[in-house]
Amino acid sequence: MAPSQDRPADLVRLNANESPYDLPAAIKDEILEAARDLPFNRYDPGLADGLRDQLAAYADPRSPGRVTAENVVLGNGSDEIILLVNEVFAGPGGRTVIVSPSFEMYHITAARIGAATARFELESGRAAGAGTSFALDVDRLVRACHDASVVFICRPNNPTGTVAPEEAIHRLLAETPAVVAVDEAYHEFTGLTVAPLAPRSERLVVLRTLSKLFSLAGLRLGYAIAPVSLAEKMNRARLPFNVSTFTQLAAGAVLRRRAELEPLRRAIMAESARLQGELVRRPGVTVHLSGANFILVETPLSAADLADALRRRGVLVRTYPDEPSLAHHIRVNAGRPDEGDAFLTAFDGVLSPGKDWRA
Ligand SMILES: Cc1ncc(COP(=O)(O)O)c(C=O)c1O
Repeated sequence: MAPSQDRPADLVRLNANESPYDLPAAIKDEILEAARDLPFNRYDPGLADGLRDQLAAYADPRSPGRVTAENVVLGNGSDEIILLVNEVFAGPGGRTVIVSPSFEMYHITAARIGAATARFELESGRAAGAGTSFALDVDRLVRACHDASVVFICRPNNPTGTVAPEEAIHRLLAETPAVVAVDEAYHEFTGLTVAPLAPRSERLVVLRTLSKLFSLAGLRLGYAIAPVSLAEKMNRARLPFNVSTFTQLAAGAVLRRRAELEPLRRAIMAESARLQGELVRRPGVTVHLSGANFILVETPLSAADLADALRRRGVLVRTYPDEPSLAHHIRVNAGRPDEGDAFLTAFDGVLSPGKDWRA
């Protein structure tokens, strides 16, 4: 099949925050070998409970037993978990507050199920020579959530890198009626987490995914850690068998052998640091750090023009055409070093003084 317009095979893809590395061959082989014995004819050969146990132990390794399988909801990617949160806790007639700009799926799924959505804008003021601030005003957020059904906080925020202070989460739980959905898609890179707090909270739902460091974007496994009463509601609402048995098998193996991914994590973080170090040296460029595998890059050029010019030079990056505060920002993720080199060469080709970026 010919590659699609949006996903050409020969472009350097630094636009989806994926891991540039497939699973180590030994883990992939184990999965494929074990799949031979998996009864493909059965809806449920009994893997899901074991996987929920594993995820519970992984979510709070320091206090075994505090998070249990009953706190875990499995999703077909965390996109599905985001949809479930909107469906179960906002629903038509509910109100979802979204700290913005952020991951677009919060808004897309809320709108799809008929919840009213309110974007809570991060500060987009610009200090002289320092680029956009993207700070979170916690008092204002708490006020904005006074009648919210759900509030989404991505931590660190994709794409701005903003980290909501833990105090913001505590205040939202104490002072508003909202289910507080904290998306920790990049936890494996940053170490940041409030997952251990979720089981004993009233309304904290933590969202995670195996799509990033764990290299399973294509197999689709996301999960939520939530208080039992909320997890039960989500489990009743999700479609039965929403996660394939093959994905459950693969996720179990990857979690068990996650120590073997540590070199990949280090390589991705080293590449992220290298790109940041290179970019900050370019005049006129502001780099917004995330502590994760992506970087928001602010330049004098319009994001659309820059991304088009990079694409013509073979590199895909992410832009935000509907976000006025990101009109001059592209998001690029750490890939392999050769991909990073291709990006930097293309970037310099576009932005070097005297160069015509259209060329
Ligand atoms: C913040 C955030 N949440 C969720 C996702 C989606 O993850 P999944 O592949 O598990 O649906 C992404 C993917 O880029 C993301 O950036």
